[in-house]
Order: sequence, then C-alpha cells, then structure tokens
Amino acid sequence: MSTSLLFSNIRVSLACGWGRGVKHALFRPPAVRPQPRRSVIDMSYSSHFMDFKGSSIPSAMKKLLVTKLSQKFRDAVSLQTVPVPTPGDGDLLIRNRFIGINASDINYSAGRYDTSVKPPFDVGFEGIGEVVGVGLSASAHFTVGDTVAYFVEGAFAEYSVIPAKKGVRVPAIKPEFLAMLLSGATAHIALKKLGELTEGQTVLVTAAAGGTGQFAVQFAKAAGCHVIGLCSSDTKAGFLKTIGCDRPINYRKEDLPEVLRQEYPRGVDVIYESVGGDVFDLAVNSLAVKGRLIIIGFISGYQSDLGLAPVKAAALPVKLLKKSASMRGFFLPHYLSDYGEALASMLSMYTRGKLVCEIDRGDAAPGGRFVGLESVFRAVDHMYSGGNLGKVVVALGPEAESKL
Ligand SMILES: NC(=O)c1ccc[n+]([C@@H]2O[C@H](COP(=O)([O-])OP(=O)(O)OC[C@H]3O[C@@H](n4cnc5c(N)ncnc54)[C@H](OP(=O)(O)O)[C@@H]3O)[C@@H](O)[C@H]2O)c1
Repeated sequence: MSTSLLFSNIRVSLACGWGRGVKHALFRPPAVRPQPRRSVIDMSYSSHFMDFKGSSIPSAMKKLLVTKLSQKFRDAVSLQTVPVPTPGDGDLLIRNRFIGINASDINYSAGRYDTSVKPPFDVGFEGIGEVVGVGLSASAHFTVGDTVAYFVEGAFAEYSVIPAKKGVRVPAIKPEFLAMLLSGATAHIALKKLGELTEGQTVLVTAAAGGTGQFAVQFAKAAGCHVIGLCSSDTKAGFLKTIGCDRPINYRKEDLPEVLRQEYPRGVDVIYESVGGDVFDLAVNSLAVKGRLIIIGFISGYQSDLGLAPVKAAALPVKLLKKSASMRGFFLPHYLSDYGEALASMLSMYTRGKLVCEIDRGDAAPGGRFVGLESVFRAVDHMYSGGNLGKVVVALGPEAESKL
C-alpha cells in the first residue's frame, strides 16, 4: 500500500481536530458558535506568511531528506538547507517545536512504506508546534499562533506544511501530546479493537517501557488486567512498576521462557507484540487457550536488509488451532475512524492524572539531550540501542527547550 494512500486516510479522521478550541476542547469537532475571524491573507508569497509574536519567518530552513534508500538511517538521510515551504489553500505552515522518533523511521528511509518511492523524499512522521502561516481555506479553522500536533510525513524539518485537516489542536506545545498522537493511539485502538480485554485477564506487552509499550501497559491495567512487561534494564523495570505493570521482566537478567512457564502455566490471554523474531516465537508458545496475539511490529528485524525478523512459522497453524488462539496484525493508518475517540479518551485520562506519557529527551543518551535536527540521528541510535525510556522526542530550537 502506498504511503499517500495511507496518509490520505488520516485526512478524514483528523478533521475532528478542527474548530477553534476552548481550553480543553482538544480533539473536539468544530465549534458551532461564531468565531472572530482574522482577515485572510493570501495575496502573494510575501504576504502569505504571518509573523508569530513579531518574529519573522526566515526564507531558508533545515530539514532532513532521504537521499538514498537504506534502513541505515545515517546512510539514508542527510541534513539540508532548503526554502521554507509555502502553505497552499488548505494548508498550515507549522513551526515544529518537537518531533517524534519512531521505530519505523528506518523502514520509511528504506522505502518499505512505498516500494515505488524514489529519493529524495521527506522523512519523519509526527510533530507539534505552532501555526505560523495559513492558506485561504485553512484560515476558516486555524489562525496564526494556534498550537497543533500532526501525524504527516515530512516532520523532520524546522517548518512543515501540513493539510489543515490533519492538524490536531492541542492545548499546549508539550511533547506528552505528541506521544499520544501515534504511540498512544496505536496502543489504545489495538487493545480496544483486537484485544477484547476483560477484567482479570493476563496481558503481556513487549518493549513495554518504550513509546507505544508504556501506553499498552497502562491501558491494559486500566481494563483490570494483570500486566506483564518485557524490558532490557532494571531502570525500565522500575519505571514499569510505577505505571502499574504487575510483573516487569528484565529479559537480560531473568530467563524469560522459564519465568513465563513457571509463573504463567495457563498461558497469557493477550500479547501486544512489537519485537518479532525469538520474542514472537516465544509469544506464540505462551498464548493461553483462546489467546490473542496482536502483531504491532517486529523491530528486531528492521535493521536487517529485508526488514524482517526470522520466525518459526511452520508449526503456526497447529499451535493456533490447538489453543483456539488467534493472531492479528494492527497498523494505525487502517484504524483512523477510531482515532478521534482514542485521542479524546487519552486526553481525558491525562488531564485526570490517570495517564503517564513518559518522554525520553535524550538526557541519558551519549551526547545528551536531543536538540536540533542534527540530533535526530543520535535519537534513532538511542532507540535502536534499546536505551530509551518512553517516547523519544527531539526539541527544535532553544524556545522549545526552555518550555520543558
Ligand atoms: N502497527 C503500528 O501502527 C505501530 C505504531 C507505532 C509503533 N509500532 C511498532 O511498535 C514497536 C515500538 O515502536 P516505538 O516507536 O514505540 O519504539 P520504542 O518502543 O520506543 O523503542 C524500541 C524498543 O524496542 C525494544 N527492542 C527490543 N528488541 C529490539 C531490537 N532488536 N532492536 C531495537 N530495539 C529493540 C527496546 O526496548 P527494550 O530494550 O526494553 O526491549 C527499545 O527501547 C515497533 O515495532 C514499531 O514498529 C507499530
């Protein structure tokens, strides 16, 4: 499936982010009450842009571009200076303040999302920042200064043009809102639609202390389940306990198959699986009768040439049949009709203090905090070293940094 098709779906469901928001009106449909409108400026290139807080928009900016197809991010991507883009009629120009790193950034740079794609092309799935320019149609819904998060390709840039329909209004430029957008929504919708969670069931989350895993742990716990979380360090295991994980397993210290055999002899009801390879094989073997394995990803294979983690699939039909178990894939862009509800639910949990959105800004990474597009490379390395705790984000510019 082509990327453009995937992302054209988003346009429809993110329309819920439209409308001038009151303080907590994030993700609500357009407000019906009349709104004060600013005059639309769409006469020429120079007058198209609006100043934000008196600062002028430069004519050039930095952005990351895929110049060669490769899953080796540093080989595939280069930092370039290009003109700041002009928003079209239905578009917004966003000054990015935080951008989100995703495991699939290297699948994207390898051209695995759209095998017909030819470099150069933009990269980066998500960003949050303020609106600094609006097209004519877009000005009916957004104005300069609005704070917006988005899930649109091309986020690894100082400024991004996005279709206004894909903009999600957020109350503040906080990386926590960025974490909900893709990582949180994946966990929320996948568990709701495919997990069929009921109280008292056992849920195993792999890469549990990562961007999406941390949300899966919390949503499973909120559903009254017993939650097991896999991770690679005691620091991560400690974090998992703080977010309600009943049994964190540091697989570097404990014998994972043995722990599962000893402590969960009946098997596990639901598995949120994003690692692949041996972990996937173990997950299949650990399913309970009528268990559900949700395939979220297979990160252990992404750095390989094929992008696949080898699995022992030959015995799969018999293993599933013997347990009346099932396995289903989940890919967020296919579930965008559930997106608005998921975001609203997460925001509600977050504002009530019921949802932790752990952010990894790179403080513990070699080279320190991730600031500026140059540090996207380090941020990707950090994630692939397994060093991240929570959602990896990169701040763009000192202003974003000072807001942390
Ligand atoms: N289907 C979808 O729509 C969707 C959406 C978002 C994400 N995902 C998938 O969810 C998974 C996690 O993505 P994320 O962006 O949230 O990343 P993340 O969990 O923040 O970071 C990746 C984590 O994976 C773990 N890991 C285990 N084996 C690894 C290996 N061989 N190499 C590197 N890391 C390994 C590491 O945690 P430990 O060291 O603690 O094991 C690492 O911290 C990926 O598979 C991704 O493709 C899927």
